[in-house]
Amino acid sequence: MKIIAITNQKGGCGKTTTAINLSAALASAGKKILLIDLDPQSHASFGLGANLQAVDKSTYNALTDNEEKRRKLSDCITNICQNLDMVSSNILLSTLEQELKDKDDAVSKLREAISSAKLDYNYIIIDCPPSLGFLTFNALRAAEMVLVPIDMSAFSLMGVGKLLGMLELIKVKIGHSPAINAVATLFDNRTKYSHTMLTEIKSFFRDQMLRTVIRTSVALKKAAANGISVIQFDKSSNGAIDHIALANELLEAEGAKEFEKALRELPMALPSPAIQEPVNKEVDFTVNAPDAREIYLVGDFNHWKINEESRLARLDDGKWVKKMGLEPGKYRYKFVVDGEWTIDNHNTDREQNAFGTFDSIIKL
Ligand SMILES: Nc1ncnc2c1ncn2[C@@H]1O[C@H](COP(=O)(O)OP(=O)(O)OP(=O)(O)O)[C@@H](O)[C@H]1O
Ligand SMILES: [Mg+2]
Repeated sequence: MKIIAITNQKGGCGKTTTAINLSAALASAGKKILLIDLDPQSHASFGLGANLQAVDKSTYNALTDNEEKRRKLSDCITNICQNLDMVSSNILLSTLEQELKDKDDAVSKLREAISSAKLDYNYIIIDCPPSLGFLTFNALRAAEMVLVPIDMSAFSLMGVGKLLGMLELIKVKIGHSPAINAVATLFDNRTKYSHTMLTEIKSFFRDQMLRTVIRTSVALKKAAANGISVIQFDKSSNGAIDHIALANELLEAEGAKEFEKALRELPMALPSPAIQEPVNKEVDFTVNAPDAREIYLVGDFNHWKINEESRLARLDDGKWVKKMGLEPGKYRYKFVVDGEWTIDNHNTDREQNAFGTFDSIIKL
C-alpha cells in the first residue's frame, strides 16, 4: 500500500483535479484506491458526488478525539465506483486543529488512523487543503510520496520552497522523508508562457519532475461539475488521456522498483548454499564537494531513502565518503547534495530511469 499526499499551499493549482482523476485512472488500471479528502472545502467530495456521505462519516469523524463523533476510518469509507473508495470531508474538518491543539500526537492522527485500520488498498491518495497548516502536516507525516501539482502561472513556484522546508523539518525531527515528485498542471500548449514556465519548473525540480504534463481541458471542469471523474465523463478527452498517462508513469516507476527488487532477491531463492550466502563487497562511494553541507547516497540498495543511514561522512580534504557492503548484483544510485539529486560524476556507467533522467549504475 502506497500513500500519496497531493499538496501545494498555492490555491487552484490542480490538487483536487489531480487527486480525483489520478485516483480514477489508477482504479481503471485495476488498482484498489482510497481517496481521502483532507480539505474542509470538500471539493474532492463534491467532484465525485460523495459530499452527502460526509454527515457523520467524514475525515473529521476518523480523526477527532471527541468520543461521540469519533468513527473508525474504515467506517467512514464510501464506494465511488469499481476499485475506488473515498473518505469524504465537510467543513467540520476546519475545527480539528483547534480541537487537538494540546495533543502531542495531533500531527500523526491521520497516519495512526490509516495504520490502525488495516486497509487493503494499493494506493491511498490524500487531497490536501491550500495551506501548510496542521492538516497538510498530517498528510506529509502519513505519506510515502508527496505529489506537488504546479500550474503554469507567475507565482507557481513561490510557495514551493516553504513546502520543501516543511518536508526537511519532518525529516530532521522525525526521520520521515517521503519521496517528492512534481507534476505540471494547467498547461496550455498554445501559449509561449506555458512553455517558458514548464522549462523553469523542470529546471527547479530536475529528477523530481514527472514527465507527464496535465494540459488544460474543459472536460475536467465539466466532469467535476457532474460529480464524476473525467475517465467516466469522457475517456477520449485530453484531461482523461493525461491523467491515465500520469497513473501509468507512477505504476511504471513502482513496477521498475519492484522488478529490480525481485531481481536482487532472486539468488536468495536458489537452493545452492554458495548462492544463498553471497559475499558482500565493500564499496566506497565518494563525492568531492568541499562546499556541500550534507550529502546522501540513495539507491536500490537502500530503497532510495534519505536518512541518517544514507548520509556520507565528510573527510578533512573536502571529500565525502560512504562505505557500503553490497551483495553481487546491479544497482542504480544517485547522490543528494544539499537537496539536489545528482548522478555520480566519477562513474560513466549510467542508465535512463522511468522519469526520463539518468541514474548511475554499479555492477558487482
Ligand atoms: N487541467 C485543467 N484544465 C482545466 N481546468 C482545470 C485543470 N485543472 C484544474 N482546473 C480547474 O481549476 C480550478 C482549480 O482546480 P483544483 O480545484 O483542482 O485546484 P486545487 O489546487 O485543488 O484548489 P484549492 O487550492 O482551492 O484546493 C477548478 O475549477 C478546476 O476545475
Ligand atoms: Mg483542492
